[in-house]
Amino acid sequence: MVFVAQPNSAVLVYRFGSPIETGAFVSEPKDWQWRTGALPAEWSVSGLEGKGFSINMPLQSNDSIVGLGQHVGGVNCRGSSFRMYSTDCPVHIPSLRAMYGAHPFMIILRERPIGIFIDSPGEISLDAGASTRGMLTAKVSTAGFYLTVIEGDSAADIVSSYLTLVGEPFIPPRWAFGYHQSRWSYGNEGAVREIAQKLGEHDIPCDVIHMDIHYMRDYKVFTINTDSFPNLPKLSSDLREKGIRLISIIDPGVKIEDGYSVYEEGKQKGYFCQRADGKGAFVGAVWPGPSVFPDFFREDVRDWWGKLYVRLQSEGFAGFWNDMNEPSIFYTPDAFKEYARKVRGFDERNEFSEALSNLIWDKGLTNQESYYDEFVHDVNGERVPNREVHNLFGTLMTRATAEALAAEDESKRYFLLSRSSYPGMHRYAAIWTGDNHSWWEHLSLNIQMLISLNLSGFMFCGADTGGFGGDCTPEMLIRWTQLGAFSPFFRNHAALWARNQEPWVFDDETLALCRSGIKMRYALLPYIYSEFVKSASTRTPFIRGLFLDYKDAETRLDEDQFLCGPSLLVAPVVRPAVHGRHVYLPGSRWLKVKASEQGLDAEGVVPSGESFVSAALHEIPLYVAFGGLIPMTAPRRHTSNTCPSRYKLIGFTDSSAECAVLLDDGEARYSTWQSYPKFICSVKKVNDEWKCDVRFESTEPQQLELEIELWDSSGAKRTLAWRR
Ligand code: GLC
Repeated sequence: MVFVAQPNSAVLVYRFGSPIETGAFVSEPKDWQWRTGALPAEWSVSGLEGKGFSINMPLQSNDSIVGLGQHVGGVNCRGSSFRMYSTDCPVHIPSLRAMYGAHPFMIILRERPIGIFIDSPGEISLDAGASTRGMLTAKVSTAGFYLTVIEGDSAADIVSSYLTLVGEPFIPPRWAFGYHQSRWSYGNEGAVREIAQKLGEHDIPCDVIHMDIHYMRDYKVFTINTDSFPNLPKLSSDLREKGIRLISIIDPGVKIEDGYSVYEEGKQKGYFCQRADGKGAFVGAVWPGPSVFPDFFREDVRDWWGKLYVRLQSEGFAGFWNDMNEPSIFYTPDAFKEYARKVRGFDERNEFSEALSNLIWDKGLTNQESYYDEFVHDVNGERVPNREVHNLFGTLMTRATAEALAAEDESKRYFLLSRSSYPGMHRYAAIWTGDNHSWWEHLSLNIQMLISLNLSGFMFCGADTGGFGGDCTPEMLIRWTQLGAFSPFFRNHAALWARNQEPWVFDDETLALCRSGIKMRYALLPYIYSEFVKSASTRTPFIRGLFLDYKDAETRLDEDQFLCGPSLLVAPVVRPAVHGRHVYLPGSRWLKVKASEQGLDAEGVVPSGESFVSAALHEIPLYVAFGGLIPMTAPRRHTSNTCPSRYKLIGFTDSSAECAVLLDDGEARYSTWQSYPKFICSVKKVNDEWKCDVRFESTEPQQLELEIELWDSSGAKRTLAWRR
C-alpha cells in the first residue's frame, strides 16, 4: 500500500514501509494527511529480498538528470551511478561513488521537468541510466522511506517547491562572504600573526583565518595547546582590530584519555555511541588515536555538545568548522590488530604469494565498511545500527552546534561549516567540497559542484581554492582565485603535505593577479551578498547552470560556465597554459565586462552564441545579462558592519532594470527578504529619457551616492547620477 500526502501544491510525498524521520522536512510528515494513491505512470517500487526497496523510473531519450548535490562527475548525472553514503574520501577521482554529503534530490530535465527526493538516512544507490540507458533506478537499503515527487513548469519552480518543503538555505553573516585564508595548520600564534601581517603588507582583503587541528592539545577537541597559543583571546582581539576573525575546526572523535574533561564527562553520562555487541562504548581511531564518538541522535547529547562550542567561543573564535563527521574512522583497535597480525605473518615468511598481493592491494584500514556495523545509536529510545541512519551523523553533529550558537544570540547569524551533510542541514550550515586536489580537473569539478549543490539547497558552499592535496602552481592559483571570487564560500586551504599556496608565496605576478581577483570580490560584495541573501530567502539557486534561466538546448551541455546571481555570467578558465576559451552565450545579447580591482568595467555589447574568447592570465570572461544591473563599491580590506555610501552600477537594458542592495549590519537575523534594510535602485526609460528611482526599505541612510552606467543593446552608453 502506498500512502500519499500533499504538503504543498505541486508536491506529492509517498510513504513506503516505516521510514525513520530524518528532519529533512520543515514540517513533520506525521502531521500530514496521508491517503492511499498511485505512483506516476510507469514508475514502480518493489520490496527487495531481505530489506529495502527498488524504485524504477523510466527515462526518455533526451532527459538529463541534474542535482544530487555533492558528487564527482558532470552536472548532468545521466549515464553514471552514485552511492549516497557519507564517506571520508580523500581523493576525488572519476570512479568515486560516495562523498562526504548524501544529497538524494534530483531533477529530470524534460519538457515538463520532474523533481525527486528520496528521503532515507541509510545508504541509497542510484543508477542514473548507467546500466540501462532508459531507466533511473534507486535502491534504498532501509525498512522505509519517503519519496517526494515535484511537478513544475521549470527546474527553477521545482527547486522552489523543494525548498518550501525542506526549508530555506543557511545565510551566514556578511563577513563570511569575505576571503578566508587557511592551511593545515597555522600551528602557533606566530604563524597566525604572520599570515595576518602578510595579508596586510600585500594589501590583500581578508576576513577570516582558519585554525586547523594543531591549535588543540594532542587533537583533543575543545582544548587549546597553550604552549603554541598562550593567549588565544588576545590573539583573537588583536586580529579583530585588523578586521580578521578566527574560525576553529572541531572533529567528532573524542580522545580517550583519563582526566580529559570532555571524555570524562561524556563517559560518566553515557553520551558516547555504544558497540552493537553491547560491550561498552565504540572505539575508533582518528587524529587523536583511539577515540569515542558522541551519540548525536540523542537530544541531551546534542545539547551538551553544542554548549562546548559556546564555551570555546569565549576563547575568541567567531565561527566553527565541523570536520571528519561522516564519521571518518581510520581504524578500530580490532581491525588494527588483525592487520598487524597478517603483516607479521608475511614478515616471517618473506616470500611473495597471492595472499600477500591481496594484502598489499587491500583498500587498507581507513573507513572500512564493517566499522559502521559495529556501533549503534539511540534513536528515540531504540538501538539502531549506524548503517541504518548513517547519513545523519554529521548533520546531527552540525545541528547540535547550530542550535547552541543560535540560542546564544537569537538576533544574530552565526558562521558554521560542515563536511558531511544531508538535506535539512542546508538550513544550519555551509559546506565545502572536502579534500580536492591541486588538479586542473578539479577546477572544472568545482564549477559542476557549485551548480549541483546550489540546485540541492546547499547554497553557501565552495571548494578549497588552490586545491587541498598536491602542490598548487602559480598559474593554477591565479585561475582558481578568479573562480573562487564568485563562489559563495571563498577559502584558500591546503593540506599539511602540500606546499604553501598563499597568494604571496610564488612571484609578483601571481600576487598581483590573486590580489586583483580578491579585490574584485570585495568590490562586487554589494551584488554578491545582496543577491545571495535574496536567492536563499526566495528559494532560487544563487550559482546557476545556464539551463535554469535559458531554454536553448545548448545550455544543458554547458558545465564550465555559470550564472552568479541572476545577472552575471562567469566563464572561468579551467585549463593550464591557454589564452582563451570557448564561451556559449544564451538568449539575445550580453554586455561584456572586464574584471579589475575596482570591480567591473563595461567593454561592449556582444551577440549570443558560441565563440572563442581571449582570456590572458589577468582576464576572466564575464558578461552582464540583458536586463541586469550590477551594484559595486570601492573594495575594502575587510567587510564591515557599516555599508558604503557610494556605489557604482553597471546596467544593460533598453527599457528598465532594477537591483536591491542590502544595507543591514551584516549580522542581524531577518525572517524574510522583505524585512532586510536595503535600497532598491530602478532605472527606466521614459520618452527617451532615462530616469533613476531609489526607494528604501526598513532604513533611511543619511547619505547615498550612485553613479550608474547604462548600456543598451545598440551599444550606446549613458551615465546617470543619483545622490541624497
Ligand atoms: C580533513 C579535512 C581538511 C583538514 C584536515 C585536517 O582532511 O577535510 O580540510 O585540513 O582534515 O584537519
